[in-house]
Amino acid sequence: MALSLFTKTKKAIVERAQDDYVTKMRLKYKPYYHAMESQQGTHVRLQGRDMVMLSSNDYLGLSFHPKVIEACGTAAKTWGTSTTGARISNGSRAYHVALEEKLATFLGREACHVSVAGYVACCSAVATFAQKGDMILADKNIHSCLWDGVRLSMAGVERFSHNNPEDLRQILKSIPHATPKMLLLEGVYSMEGHVCRLPELAQLGEEAGCFTVVDDAHGFGVLGRQGRGTVDHFKLNDQVDLICGSLSKSLASTGGYVAGSRDLVEYLRTNSKQTLFSAAISPSMAATASASLDVMQSEPQHLDRLWKNTKRYREMLKGLGLDTWGSETPAVPIVLGSKELVYRFWNALLEKGVFTVMSIAPAVPPGKDLIRTAVSALHSEEDFEKISTAMAYAVKQM
Ligand SMILES: Cc1ncc(COP(=O)(O)O)c(C=O)c1O
Repeated sequence: MALSLFTKTKKAIVERAQDDYVTKMRLKYKPYYHAMESQQGTHVRLQGRDMVMLSSNDYLGLSFHPKVIEACGTAAKTWGTSTTGARISNGSRAYHVALEEKLATFLGREACHVSVAGYVACCSAVATFAQKGDMILADKNIHSCLWDGVRLSMAGVERFSHNNPEDLRQILKSIPHATPKMLLLEGVYSMEGHVCRLPELAQLGEEAGCFTVVDDAHGFGVLGRQGRGTVDHFKLNDQVDLICGSLSKSLASTGGYVAGSRDLVEYLRTNSKQTLFSAAISPSMAATASASLDVMQSEPQHLDRLWKNTKRYREMLKGLGLDTWGSETPAVPIVLGSKELVYRFWNALLEKGVFTVMSIAPAVPPGKDLIRTAVSALHSEEDFEKISTAMAYAVKQM
């Protein structure tokens, strides 16, 4: 009797978490969750060493832009740190509406809704509109937030080969025309750096009556006029029903958005659980995104520089014989094909002061284990010299 007072029943879920092999490996090799001690632009300090950051999504380099920093600070002084509430109840403010109107105009859409994270926004763009009985046609390589949206929606799903209109065409043939359909794409694929074959895919979607959703987290700020994104790049606004994306990449903030017709955005505001039951984006993050959007339109040099840097970087990698998976954008993978090679390469770069991120299966398809790198407009001549030396060294270690 006394014993039972002190013997705790083992909890299966706690045990499972404690036994998790992937977590154990992560803690042993420490490839992720590096807490940098400081940052200035593309330079971070890690364990007392100066490193060039080559894997952020700060494509335009606006996270250290003086006007953006000032807007961020001023917003906190004016509005406080948080609304501490959801938009539907006590959390809506004039600056949210202003940011949404500005984003909608920039994207050539009637309306826009902003959420606390790109993950939340993109997930809601799928989960709110698709429902049981519908069929979602999804590119195999879409981001995890979209897959979560698919699961939450309870709709059926058919995956087509990555960026492959012919495969989509074949799959569409087997779906009854009357079934409500959603076509799910990324504008720029985040791991591969591929630009979506939107003209062909969206056209097929139109013919089959698909509701087309494009997650343009990595196309926004990078493609299109002044960085309006992939849909603008292809001038296909009328064939895409919703554009969703992130504020945490080119806009140097934190948050996400869904943009579309007024009817669709109002439907989302009524029906999206992610919107109804989640707090509003903070004043500072809204002001940061808004100021970045202004800078994107008034200072074209950042976009020019991003593309110059991207071209230069890709040529450097090509010269070293590295496989960049045909990336066409500033998101440039270095495909090495096995987690052992990826770990060695990543470590060699780290040794030479260049910080990158490893992506291994199942985050990428089997055999495509890679180092994810991304170029920023802020990378300087000096940064590239350091990157070039580090890459040459890493190649020699293979
Ligand atoms: C394609 C894509 N969609 C959505 C997201 C989520 O954006 P956030 O980081 O703002 O939550 C990401 C972020 O990695 C992404 O790559």
